[in-house]
Amino acid sequence: MGRRAESLRVLAVCLALVVIPAVTLVACSGRGGPNEPFDCTNSGEHPTELACTGLYSSWSSKDVATDVLPFTPGFAAWSDGMAKQRWLALPAGTKIDTTNPDEWVFPVGTRVWKEFRRGEQRVETRFAMKLASGEWLRTTYRWSADGESAAAELTTGETDVGGTGYEIPALATCATCHRGRADGVLGFDAVTMAAPGATGLTLAELTRRDLLSAPLAAPVVPGDAQAVAALGWLHASCGTACHNASPKAAAHFTGLNMRLDVATLAAGVEGTNAYRTAVNVPSNFSAPNGAHVRIAAGEPDASTLVFRASYRDRSGQYQMPPLGTHSVDPQGVATLRAWVGSLTRPL
Ligand code: HEC
Repeated sequence: MGRRAESLRVLAVCLALVVIPAVTLVACSGRGGPNEPFDCTNSGEHPTELACTGLYSSWSSKDVATDVLPFTPGFAAWSDGMAKQRWLALPAGTKIDTTNPDEWVFPVGTRVWKEFRRGEQRVETRFAMKLASGEWLRTTYRWSADGESAAAELTTGETDVGGTGYEIPALATCATCHRGRADGVLGFDAVTMAAPGATGLTLAELTRRDLLSAPLAAPVVPGDAQAVAALGWLHASCGTACHNASPKAAAHFTGLNMRLDVATLAAGVEGTNAYRTAVNVPSNFSAPNGAHVRIAAGEPDASTLVFRASYRDRSGQYQMPPLGTHSVDPQGVATLRAWVGSLTRPL
């Protein structure tokens, strides 16, 4: 609901209540503000309640504020079966600096949210806000058991939320993944927002709204549908956060790069980072099943990448990704297996 519609609603409620003076006093005496029942006066640069981050124009109705725009990347990371919703708010009159198409730089004051639901039930909402220093505040809010009355900051994480096995990460781990991109935003990039299936603030919509500093041609991921799905899955699950060429990325040292970089896409499937650094490349890791090649063309079971993506252990010794997941992504692994199986073996 817009702000005007909201004030009309409040007016209507107040007028209706004039007949009961005692109730009118309570309902119209300054209570019922947009963040009610939370006092956001001193939230400043570090809101400890989700209600104070500006996501909703009204906490009670959960109407999303008009300056907050939804987006769904065309390739997304697996979060143990949770449904996710994402929103972005840019300060009025600002643009995203897209000079480097692979490393977008966001204006100070940018806010991004990612909500996790189990079915219809809200469980967690993560939040990132770019501060005047250029650093990001990253935090997360855990919803009350009813999924609506409160969502308070949780800094320490929780390993088994409601006995479902789902993990809310401790704030100390956010940067382990998010430092993998120069400006720390992982899932909102030229490749994911131009991919089929992207919705909301897609690359086309960003261009239409004139929110990019430099116009960008829509990147096209090479290959047939099977290759696109597998390369997109590797990009979102492995490449954007850890496995890329950025020196700060957590798995940079391995040389295994699975990010879809715009400049590489014209060179076809064989030119992608994932193909170049994984297909028929020996692994630094020997899997207990004997696999020792990152991706053995035509042989999913001889590929360490397939083994690790299909494995989960709390110690994180074998599983990939090592953080943030405790169950295998069945569709993602099936996509990966199908593509690896389709690759031609070397003669
Ligand atoms: C295991 C790695 C990992 C950890 C840990 C992690 N994130 Fe993320 N996050 C990602 C990836 C990958 C994406 C993009 C893909 C997607 O949204 O599905 C993402 C997306 C987001 C987004 C949407 C904007 C964007 O960057 O795409 C927000 C906001 C966010 N994370 C906040 C957090 C916060 C806050 C924490 C810590 C409480 C955290 N994340 C911990 C990997 C991680």
